[in-house]
Amino acid sequence: MSDKHHKAGHSVRDAFTSNLGMLAATLGSAVGLGNIWKFPSMTGTNGGASFLFVYLACTVVVGLPVMISEIMLGRTVKANAITTLRKLSPKGQPWGIVGISGVVAAFLILCFYTEVAGWVFAYIFKGISGSILTTDPTIASAAFADLISDPVQSIGWQWFVIIFVSIIITFGISKGIEKVTIKLMPILFLLLLVICGRSLTLPGAEKGLEFLFAPDFSKISGSVILMAMGLAFFKLSIGMGTMMTYGSYFKNSQNIPLTATRVVLADLLISLLAGIAIFPAVFAYGFDVSAGPSLLFITIPAVFASMPMGHLFAVLFFVLTAVAATGAMLSLFEVPVAYLCEARQMSRKAATLTTALLIMLLGAPAALSSSLTKDVKVFGMNFFDLFDFLSSNLCMPAGGLLICIFTGWVFGKDRFKAELSNHGLIKNEKVVDVLFFLIKYVSPLLVAIVMMNMLKVF
Ligand code: PHE
Repeated sequence: MSDKHHKAGHSVRDAFTSNLGMLAATLGSAVGLGNIWKFPSMTGTNGGASFLFVYLACTVVVGLPVMISEIMLGRTVKANAITTLRKLSPKGQPWGIVGISGVVAAFLILCFYTEVAGWVFAYIFKGISGSILTTDPTIASAAFADLISDPVQSIGWQWFVIIFVSIIITFGISKGIEKVTIKLMPILFLLLLVICGRSLTLPGAEKGLEFLFAPDFSKISGSVILMAMGLAFFKLSIGMGTMMTYGSYFKNSQNIPLTATRVVLADLLISLLAGIAIFPAVFAYGFDVSAGPSLLFITIPAVFASMPMGHLFAVLFFVLTAVAATGAMLSLFEVPVAYLCEARQMSRKAATLTTALLIMLLGAPAALSSSLTKDVKVFGMNFFDLFDFLSSNLCMPAGGLLICIFTGWVFGKDRFKAELSNHGLIKNEKVVDVLFFLIKYVSPLLVAIVMMNMLKVF
């Protein structure tokens, strides 16, 4: 099939130009702080290998089918998430709301994500100066507390990140996102391998590997499953319009199930490598694996400080994390930017500026969660945790559930098969049958059960 759909309106719509570019950008979206900050800290606090096992199950049964469906819906219409769902909705059905909730989720995530990314960028510089490299947990905690409890530094680093990502976004899809992610992904992978090599050659590394890979199933509980499911959504950038938006830049000749499978596998590999980089070192030096979110900013610098050549590796580690966060933030920005350009007829620059200003405004309460707004609690959470909770545990699973229902029950099997086989050009009927069964029955049921459990329906 030709790429005639590439034309939206009068002008040619920007899109990814190569298969590798599509893969790099999509993987760049999936890989991020989720792999290096959330995955290890959640695995650490939820019992290691058994959490990993539940996470894997959620990824296969829910993550992959939802990702494939979203990319497919986006490519079918070749528009932003809201327009895509509005156009595909039968008359009188309000599926556009799912797109709107996606844009809201993108903002919610960006509000806290840009803050954590800001800390990461700050830690590159602090790593170079050596100021965070200490084996004394009290000094390491104080250094991190200094950063997050200083309103000027918190906001400053957040703005730095927002401006940095906005600049790349203004260059567009092929010259901005694609060009940058194609260069960043190999760098990220190489840096990660180097750090894994260092971690694995430390004495006592086996303990960390055991923690990551030997499951204790007694640790699995309802809340562990909810967390693992939330992480799967967050990790794969699904349930909130990102994959639909990126899918709209896919070529008609792209094999969507194959690309998505590669992305999921590579993302998983990077999470595991992050675990292999972190846990053996944490065990080798006797630190606490269940330090939670501060694992990355307190435990890891301390771990590096205690190893030979730790200074260099600490800087490399934070560069790697910054690289990963950048690819993910590009894809988060693109959700509102694409909508503002296409549906509100803004220029790309104006759309980027609007998005950036909104994130600065809405993100400030999250950035100040450990300083000026630290006593403000909503549902018992500060703004930072609230935005994280609302996006990962509510908006994304709810969005994912509705995408399953839409794809399985409204979009329908015939169009699903036609789109995923590129109108008969790819022979993948059996695979697509299984995918459709998952998306129509299994994935929505699972997400619904987990969400009802969270809302305490039973
Ligand atoms: N997947 C990204 C990560 O792991 C986060 C993200 C979520 C990006 C949703 C885009 C959309 O860090």
